[in-house]
Amino acid sequence: MKYTLPKYLFAALLALALGCSTAKQNTTVFTKERQLPIDRRVDSVLALMTLEEKVGQMNQYNGFWDVTGPAPQGGDAALKYEHLKKGWVGSMLNVKGVKDVRALQKIAVEETRLHIPVIFGFDVIHGYKTISPIPLAEAASWDMEIIERSAQIAAAEAAASGLNWTFAPMVDVSRDARWGRVMEGAGEDPYLNSRIAVARVKGFQGNLGEFNVAACVKHFAGYSFAEAGRDYNTVDISNNTLHNIVLPPFKAASDAGALTFMNSFNELEGIPATGNAYLQRDILKRDWGFKGFVVSDWGSMGEMVTHGYTKDLKEAAEKAANAGSDMDMESHGYVEHLAALVREGKVSEDKINDAARRILRVKFELGLFDDPYKYCNETREQQTIGKKEFQDGVLDVAKKSIVLLKNERNLLPLKKQGQKITVIGALANDKTSPLGSWRIAAEDGTAVSVLEGLNQYKGNTITYAKGADVAVGKTLFGSETKINTTDKSDFAEAVAAAKNADVVVMVLGEHGLQTGEGRSRAKLDLPGVQQELLQAVYKANPNIVLVLQNGRPLTIPWAAENIPAIVEGWHLGTQSGNAIAQVLYGDYNPSGKLPMSFPRSIGQVPLYYNHKSTGRPGGDAPTESVFWSHYGDEANSALYPFGHGLSYSKFEYSNLKLSRSSFGKNGNITVSVDVRNNSTVDGKEVVQLYLHDLFASVTRPIKELKAFELAEIKAGQTKTITFTINEKVIEFYSANNKWEAEAGDFKVFVGGSSVTKLEAPFSYTN
Ligand code: BGC
Repeated sequence: MKYTLPKYLFAALLALALGCSTAKQNTTVFTKERQLPIDRRVDSVLALMTLEEKVGQMNQYNGFWDVTGPAPQGGDAALKYEHLKKGWVGSMLNVKGVKDVRALQKIAVEETRLHIPVIFGFDVIHGYKTISPIPLAEAASWDMEIIERSAQIAAAEAAASGLNWTFAPMVDVSRDARWGRVMEGAGEDPYLNSRIAVARVKGFQGNLGEFNVAACVKHFAGYSFAEAGRDYNTVDISNNTLHNIVLPPFKAASDAGALTFMNSFNELEGIPATGNAYLQRDILKRDWGFKGFVVSDWGSMGEMVTHGYTKDLKEAAEKAANAGSDMDMESHGYVEHLAALVREGKVSEDKINDAARRILRVKFELGLFDDPYKYCNETREQQTIGKKEFQDGVLDVAKKSIVLLKNERNLLPLKKQGQKITVIGALANDKTSPLGSWRIAAEDGTAVSVLEGLNQYKGNTITYAKGADVAVGKTLFGSETKINTTDKSDFAEAVAAAKNADVVVMVLGEHGLQTGEGRSRAKLDLPGVQQELLQAVYKANPNIVLVLQNGRPLTIPWAAENIPAIVEGWHLGTQSGNAIAQVLYGDYNPSGKLPMSFPRSIGQVPLYYNHKSTGRPGGDAPTESVFWSHYGDEANSALYPFGHGLSYSKFEYSNLKLSRSSFGKNGNITVSVDVRNNSTVDGKEVVQLYLHDLFASVTRPIKELKAFELAEIKAGQTKTITFTINEKVIEFYSANNKWEAEAGDFKVFVGGSSVTKLEAPFSYTN
């Protein structure tokens, strides 16, 4: 369909923008107009808008109407429909598919006074229809190229489906595995989160072509620090933690050109993020120079009333607008109250202009003013979604996201011929759970199960026994659905099947929908009767390969001690079973490393490697000696630490060298280390560099990741890996309330996990 209306509109706008006396412009001029700087184009649109239309741009509605049916009559839907026709809806979410997007866009650009296109948002978190591993799993790859590729695939499918904005990446640094949303981010480290944030923003946005979407960096800020890991709970963190731990990934994403940010449900210093001027106005927009817009989280403006921060929705709208929250997701606060608040002098029109300008700017950057139907092409939709190339792409990401936690007696890789293998666990035969949480456009049952993956290999005899259900019912949303906590009636069959096997592969863990938003857990063990099943099978046959499928670190101390091989298989998306089978059979040599520490017990949580020292650091072993920072009944250390992950190769580190022992302003130190692959298989190793700043104006973590390299090292070969340490690397948010490098003494550590063996001192003099 040809889109003609805006030509005349733009001719008029151009006349305004150029100060021409007449609006009669021809197409040549229209072409030139397209080449004007975006800011001028934005201003020329803004100049035509009424206050209500500007406020309308700041209003986002959830999809409210089945667009293929008749126009809604009566109630909320009819009101939203009226607003759309008046130009009072700047964005919609959860509308997808070219047909529906086109129908709604048509109303916006053909029936409203100013024909301003709508921007369509959707939670494309780890894939659209073709699902990649959950973001936490992808983070375990430490492979920026494939993380970017994964975001590209997600963007291409979403964009082909009419969408132009994803509510991703989530860059919340997460230290508390009870919080269900750890699955959606990149784990506990600010540096790894920052690197991944950049890769994801680049992958989604690319050059903002027709296969790209705008990114939305979320949740700004502090959301993952919800007390006790309970979603939406109070957050109470210091300014030091905010700046040194929480904000770096957001800053990195903003610097990488992310077009939008989302604020968060939590409060910070007693002020809900949506109404928080320090975060949105001062830090993001003023200090970082962010040019895009901030959308509220779903209903978070209205929730400021429940927080006890504003007396009603109108006051919430006032506080949010004044704090720099540009678009209201589904609170209806702006559309109902903002124009009146401006008239009453409670919100300045400058604030409205700024917000509307930011939103229009993103629409221009996406090319929606040039062609509002840029994302509406049925042929592209059909040809793009589920492409073979995308399936191959997510399989590659899935393999690289797997972490080999333990491998004794070389139980892995499995032999390809003549083995009797018994596969046990409901998750082994599940084609929905591996899709994980936050995959709302994907169909249930579209993942390759582990059983299907293993069955691709024909040389062995495979027997399957469920053993026990994890979840009963269709989804974990429905009331009929629950976790199986009692039924052990299938244990006997599984135990019998295990008895005769050479190897037992047990697939246990969390159902995909047991993680994600609103799915906090107070226990982190294998849900339901799975631990009992594991122990029952172990008695019959201890030759077990345990494949975990989960969206967060679990407490599995018994398995860690007794089970010879443990593979962290996360929720790996559409190609899950193929990826796991290729790793189990050694067709892919695992290279993943944990992006979050695995606790020994729930009582250790929040647990993170980059903690401070305290005045009384305890030793690791539980001891009865008191007055130390330790537990009487548990070690302090993680069961599996941040950065841990084995390979079928064996890597040895030696020869840590520093080019000099100190450096000054504008100088640097080169750090080198030799990594030898002392095995007969080629492999990949994530070589990690950590620093400890020994004394500073504010206390510093005992160790912080500062650099890493994913190195391919052939069997028997040694590679020298080098890193550079300069002022940027040692900077932190100091007692002077700014990022700076302070003179002092440091230690550098290099190794294959956060528990490193090699270290060396150096100093910095400024
Ligand atoms: C979540 C956001 C999400 C939004 C829209 C909220 O509940 O916190 O992360 O983008 O819903 O679906």
